[in-house]
Amino acid sequence: MDKTKSETGSTKLEAVMGWVDKRFPATETFEYHMSKYYAPKNFNFWYYFGFLAMFVLVNQLVTGVWLTMNYVPSGEGAFASVEYIMRDVEYGWLLRYLHSTGASFFFIVIYLHMYRALRYGSYRGPRELLWLIGMAIFIALMAEGFFGYLLPWGNMSYWGAQVIVSLFGAIPFIGPELMEWIRGDFLMSETTLNRFFALHVVALPLVLCILIFVHLVALHHVGSNNPDGIEIKKNKDANGVPLDGIPFHPYYTVHDIHAMVVFLFIFCAVVFFAPEMGGYFLEKPNFDMADPLKTPDHIAPVWYYTPFYAMLRAATYPLFGMSAKFWGFVVMAGAIVIPAVLPWLDRSPVRSMRYKGIWSRTMLSLFVISFFILGYLGTQAPSKLGTIMAQICTTIYFAYFILMPWYTRIEKTKPEPERVTG
Ligand code: HEM
Repeated sequence: MDKTKSETGSTKLEAVMGWVDKRFPATETFEYHMSKYYAPKNFNFWYYFGFLAMFVLVNQLVTGVWLTMNYVPSGEGAFASVEYIMRDVEYGWLLRYLHSTGASFFFIVIYLHMYRALRYGSYRGPRELLWLIGMAIFIALMAEGFFGYLLPWGNMSYWGAQVIVSLFGAIPFIGPELMEWIRGDFLMSETTLNRFFALHVVALPLVLCILIFVHLVALHHVGSNNPDGIEIKKNKDANGVPLDGIPFHPYYTVHDIHAMVVFLFIFCAVVFFAPEMGGYFLEKPNFDMADPLKTPDHIAPVWYYTPFYAMLRAATYPLFGMSAKFWGFVVMAGAIVIPAVLPWLDRSPVRSMRYKGIWSRTMLSLFVISFFILGYLGTQAPSKLGTIMAQICTTIYFAYFILMPWYTRIEKTKPEPERVTG
């Protein structure tokens, strides 16, 4: 745009923006969300991941649209169309690997994003709703990944989906009908593939985009938390600008672009040199077409679901007349939704782990270690020792939440500073 001053003293860009602003709040929105949005000046490494999640989302949307141009959602055509994309479509292999690797990176980024919230108490008031919207995003993301996984119509897609859908069969009374309703058939079939395709390509991306929009609106309404867990809005200058805040643009736009470049190095290294990641990102049985008569030796979901899958398998005893499978389902569903109540479990006088006591630190560390062990166990075939380990880790997982009202009250905390530290 030509920036030379016109006779009236304003640039052409200003004139165009003036025209737009009279009809649409473009400058106002930019200022509210970017150049006059004051974010705490002490953001650190853990604050990269919200932006990176948006970046990966864009990657998934763009590559997804292009994959859909050649993908055929039918029992006959699905597997063959993926092979066609990999071999014959120009750069089809790249589109597919960007999408499949993107799915795994999405979860890496989201798990780190959620961990940050646990570390700095970002879920606490006034950010409860922001956290709940985040939880809704997490569940929608899990559903999105699950529906997408069936689409290549490989043998693990088929049997993995079969196992998960059959879990609904363990629900008393309505289970069997519910299972049939989800599949749209008596067994996994083309009908199931069609509806999973519709959900993966249209419904859930829409839900995710809406939820992310609302997530950001809520964030900018309450303002960001920070590694010290103190409210920067409490200390303002004469103009009402937080003393410990800096404008999001340009300071954090540059900061986030830096993160994007580093992220792209790592992401591209995986896409170009290890897209299967030893069978963790693309599982080996999925290179064979779905076969209802041939169960893979060991059915395991993709790595990002394995902590929850291990918890599902940790329930081995029938109880109160209900099957172990039913309790496994309850434990798994409980493990996914329990973080939603965190804002009401944490009773500590301070927000951030920097000022919390030994109990909170120990419990969070044990929680993270258990989550990793569960993730590993979920990838392995069931064994006696594995089941005992999974039971211990599941107990720790739930103890982190259930005991929180108690240990956050009894521990000795450090005093929070008045102003943010470095
Ligand atoms: C596609 C998914 C998601 C996107 C694009 C996203 C985006 C963002 C962005 C851009 C921020 C501000 C930058 C930052 O703090 O890193 C943010 C903050 C936040 N997000 Fe998310 N988010 C997503 C999922 C989630 C999930 C699953 C949760 C939790 C269950 C969550 C909880 C939070 C919280 C608590 C904050 C405020 C953190 C703070 O101020 O300390 N988000 N999110």
